Amino acid sequence: MQVRTLILGAGAAGMMAAAHAGPGTLVVDHAASPGEKIRISGGGRCNFTNLHCGPEAFLGANAHFHKSALARYSQWDFLDLVGRYGIAWHEKTLGQLFCDGKATQIVDMLRQEMAQAGADLWLKTTVAGVTHADGRFRVALDREGRRETVTAGALILATGGKSIPKMGATGLAYDLARQFGHAITETRPALVPLVFEKGRFAGISGVSTPARLSNDRAGFDEALLFTHRGLSGPAILQISSYWREGEEIVANLFPGADLSEVLKSARAAEGRRSLTTELARHLPQRLVAHLGESLDLTGNLADLSDRRIAALTESLTGWRLKPAASEGYRTAEVTLGGIDTDGFDSRTMMSKTLPGLYAIGEALDVTGWLGGYNFQWARASAMAAARHR
Ligand code: FDA
Repeated sequence: MQVRTLILGAGAAGMMAAAHAGPGTLVVDHAASPGEKIRISGGGRCNFTNLHCGPEAFLGANAHFHKSALARYSQWDFLDLVGRYGIAWHEKTLGQLFCDGKATQIVDMLRQEMAQAGADLWLKTTVAGVTHADGRFRVALDREGRRETVTAGALILATGGKSIPKMGATGLAYDLARQFGHAITETRPALVPLVFEKGRFAGISGVSTPARLSNDRAGFDEALLFTHRGLSGPAILQISSYWREGEEIVANLFPGADLSEVLKSARAAEGRRSLTTELARHLPQRLVAHLGESLDLTGNLADLSDRRIAALTESLTGWRLKPAASEGYRTAEVTLGGIDTDGFDSRTMMSKTLPGLYAIGEALDVTGWLGGYNFQWARASAMAAARHR
């Protein structure tokens, strides 16, 4: 069978590309349904984009590669599409847009867009091998147990990264890119909970508090969640993308306030109040009790010297934490790193060395922050490739 464009992977990027790549498009996926990560994303409501999506929210070896595609297919373009399908949405926080209903509305919308464009979708189909000769790709596919060979003028790699192997993530895009002479940058789990020594936060598992998590590369003001295994919550997922093994991260448990001033004015107004009672007005009670195991939180506010206030402020706004590891690809929302973007054209996502070969979405070395940025990149890169077809 011959097609004009063969897309490997019917995820967020592959479906979008299939809906816009023009006639003669076939998209294949080894899963039983397309867009599985869309379906489970955002707790089943899909954080489908971000109002503030801009280039600063993305990491990659080339800090400029993603700019052109994101500018040419923006969050506003996707909102137009969502609006045309009458899908209701709301902003949760920090510009993050979620469906009012179910994430499957987004999957259904993309399926409909693909069907209207006449794109074919083969599910339960695995890739047995790819060769390239005379300007065409020859792809051996196993479709529900039957071997099919498809030739295509263009091959779009859209099989994503390595995160959540249980959901069918594989390194196929990396292997094929390598086969055709492209480099792969170091890959690592990102947007991932961080693990601490056994039992470190077990006593306060489930406690959540606003915090600023930072290191010398980045900082994020969001919720911090204590878990049986360590730390999670949006602030940790965000900083995990900037963390490396052996490094510390710093938690400020009073991100919006000057703790030293808070304690001094409380001391002046309510000297007989205990320090723990005062702290529990700003932090969860269980967290205060946990902090009291390693910090001296005894006594009343009136007993606090300026020096002790300064030391407490330092401890609670500059809490140095050294994770042992991350939870790895098992729970990581995305893969940091991937196909080296130096080998691809940023306007078209086409290989600079093998015309007709494209890579889009998470497979490329472009990774967004938490908050709808990764889906926006998947679509923007997909549109760049599709428009070039
Ligand atoms: P994606 O992973 O979507 O698609 C790849 C496709 O290729 C899959 O359908 C897979 O089955 C297929 N495939 C893989 N290997 C194959 C092989 N060997 N043969 C055939 N097919 C193969 N982002 C965001 O912006 N907002 C959010 O709310 C969330 N939430 C979220 C929750 C969870 C739990 C996860 C794991 C991830 C998110 N993300 C997210 C990240 C987002 O899901 C991710 O960045 C995009 O889905 C990437 O889109 P791609 O199309 O590149 O890959």
